[in-house]
Amino acid sequence: MAQEEPDYKVTAGRPDTSTRAGRLKMLYPTIGDLRARARKRVPRFAFDYVDGAAGADEPNRKGNAAALDGIEILPRYGVENYRADTSVELFGKRYSGPLAIAPMGLPGLVLPGGEKVFARTAAANEIPFTLGSSALATVEEVAELAEGFAWFQIYRMPRDDLAINMDWIERATAAEVAALVVTIDVPARTKRPRELRNRLVLPYRIGLRTIADVVTRPAWLRAYLRHGQNLFANMQKYVDDNPTAAEAAEFARGEGGGSFTWDEIARFRDAWKGPLIVKGILHPGDAEKAVALGVDGIVVSNHGGRQLEAAPASVDMLPVIVSAAGGRTEILFDGGIRSGVDLVRTTSLGARFNLVGRAFMYGLAALGDEGPDFVADFFIEELREALRQVGVRDLAAARDLDLRHPTAWCFD
Ligand SMILES: Cc1cc2nc3c(=O)[nH]c(=O)nc-3n(C[C@H](O)[C@H](O)[C@H](O)COP(=O)(O)O)c2cc1C
Repeated sequence: MAQEEPDYKVTAGRPDTSTRAGRLKMLYPTIGDLRARARKRVPRFAFDYVDGAAGADEPNRKGNAAALDGIEILPRYGVENYRADTSVELFGKRYSGPLAIAPMGLPGLVLPGGEKVFARTAAANEIPFTLGSSALATVEEVAELAEGFAWFQIYRMPRDDLAINMDWIERATAAEVAALVVTIDVPARTKRPRELRNRLVLPYRIGLRTIADVVTRPAWLRAYLRHGQNLFANMQKYVDDNPTAAEAAEFARGEGGGSFTWDEIARFRDAWKGPLIVKGILHPGDAEKAVALGVDGIVVSNHGGRQLEAAPASVDMLPVIVSAAGGRTEILFDGGIRSGVDLVRTTSLGARFNLVGRAFMYGLAALGDEGPDFVADFFIEELREALRQVGVRDLAAARDLDLRHPTAWCFD
């Protein structure tokens, strides 16, 4: 009689090639493979928008991943066999793994309709999707599709004493968004050379320069014909009834600006009753300020290397920030996460949760609607295996691992 496989044997190691899911695992064993496919499947301006970063050589996009790669973990062996538990609780809600889809301004540029795909992935995989306020779908639409797994990220809209920001908070409350993310690390415009070289201006136009690029990307073109641009969906209501794409883009450019001050964050703390997360902390002194305001979480982040090219790799600031926060707020992390082992690394450094940006966008661009699900599954499966590799049962135990982090910052 065939013996039932013990569930710890359900592993990432040998995919079942008789299924499509198994074949995809063989074709795309790393996020780098998805990235290579993405480059071929969407127009260049869309790929470069995701992949690019600040600075001539985009140093800290690469630096984030390199610093993670440099962290060594000492495994322990000889323990019994088990199926590791990847789930984690954050703000009273259980997630299947310690990762969220990061806020990324324009998923719908990378693949029109992308925001809705991410929202469905969140619901199906029980991980959050953070909709950015510049996105091409509204917070109401996304919250409904995400079934309790939507977070909402906001940028500063200074006009009328933050009236738009305050209205977004009301809309997020009504839509029952699970967390509000306030991004503070965009004080000034940054230069991303690839966007300039591609003359990426919104609304984008499919003209003489781009036509060849677009017609050779039929999946993208089909999605575009189906969904259009729907630019700045969350701002349209403040512009006019039915603004044109050009009017919405002009409004977003003209009205958005600067990074939030601590006083402004204090006002959001009063207005928003749910979990409040401040995103974009690199200095332990800023972590202290956020903690003093009673925020529920902070994201240690350098914005994926897209703002200040001279900023440190975000993982190199994680230990000092964990120690500055001293357990008084939840620590979230992002920047360069490309594997389940990376999730073990950040967990053992003290992060409770992670935002994953480009990896999900590469999945969307490479595989369309099924891409983000593939990426979510990729991370959870790799994490389960990685926890076993290092000899721990769950994320709580991963916090006690011995590791070496040669590039970590310290202040003494
Ligand atoms: C294409 C793109 C757009 C982004 N837009 C936003 C945004 O609108 N708001 C924000 O807070 N962060 C934004 N980010 C930063 C991400 O939230 C996150 O910090 C970063 O992507 C993490 O690094 P990773 O891409 O290496 O995972 C963006 C990142 C990318 C790649």
